[in-house]
Amino acid sequence: MLEQEERIVAQTRISQDDSENVLRPRVMSDYIGQEKIKHNLNIFMTSARKRGEALDHVLLYGPPGLGKTTLSHIIANEMNVDIRVTSGPAIERAGDLAAILTSLQPNSILFIDEIHRLNHTVEEILYPAMEDFALDMVLGKGPSARTIRLSLPKFTLIGATTKAGMLSAPLRDRFGVICRLEIYKPEELAIIIKRSAGILNINIEPEAAIEIARRSRGTPRIANRLLRRLRDFAEYDDSDILTLEIAKKGLRLLEVDSLGLDRTDINILKTIIEKFDGGPVGLETLSASSGEEINTIEDVYEPYLLQLGFISRTPRGRVCLRRAYEHLGYPMPQREKTLMDLFDDNQP
Ligand code: ADE
Repeated sequence: MLEQEERIVAQTRISQDDSENVLRPRVMSDYIGQEKIKHNLNIFMTSARKRGEALDHVLLYGPPGLGKTTLSHIIANEMNVDIRVTSGPAIERAGDLAAILTSLQPNSILFIDEIHRLNHTVEEILYPAMEDFALDMVLGKGPSARTIRLSLPKFTLIGATTKAGMLSAPLRDRFGVICRLEIYKPEELAIIIKRSAGILNINIEPEAAIEIARRSRGTPRIANRLLRRLRDFAEYDDSDILTLEIAKKGLRLLEVDSLGLDRTDINILKTIIEKFDGGPVGLETLSASSGEEINTIEDVYEPYLLQLGFISRTPRGRVCLRRAYEHLGYPMPQREKTLMDLFDDNQP
């Protein structure tokens, strides 16, 4: 691998080398939840294998921590091919991507995390690469410049993003398989927690696993993080089992409430209610008033608050709904009640 290319690929690998890795399932049968996606991917993978071809390009999107990277490694494993991992912001120049593309093994996978952050010039290189497995290179400058087309090995691009809406239409259209990862159900997270506890040698009461699952915002990464922290509480108490009681005490000390909301969620909700009379309030104004980053609100906090039916997105901004008032113990102002009832009808 070229030195420069190594830097781009390695840059992303660093974040993968953390302790999260030991908990990642390696085969589809160990991957819990996302049933529809698994079912369809299994069909597409089996068919591609039967034809001896590369799998079609796959776009995985959804909130952070739901297992997009894990799923990509599983696909590589099940297809028995190499996977090269990089990310949108790590590929700065067209030449960076060209170097990666020309060194891919036939049928292998190129995983680009945060693909919505690719710059325009780099993205343009991807179009012919994805569609025709070709690399168009411009030789020379000015009137004597000419384009030559190099052929690339057939490969599968797996793009992951938290913001599918930010992908340009030409890029989105070149993915043959588009999967939206869903927030996990507590029962699914409880299974993931028990599996992780087994790998980490943590003895856990089933009731404690359920309690942690309920407070993990539908996200395996959060569930696994809480499990590790609560194990510390059990060890500190000299308990050889993580009991429900220890889990509850630990979660209280970690300031994770009964639905998994933390200080930032509460800050966002209280800002809407207290400073904007329940909304609507635009995202930028909400960010300035709450002191939370726009991206953090949109990508990390909002998906779960929307899922809980605590807030709604309207053309005029975010509004807090009845369930948020009830959870925080705020009385519901009459005006908001009418507005909220309107939006509550649209909640699942
Ligand atoms: N770890 C992270 N995501 C997972 C999943 N979907 N199933 C099992 N373990 C996981």
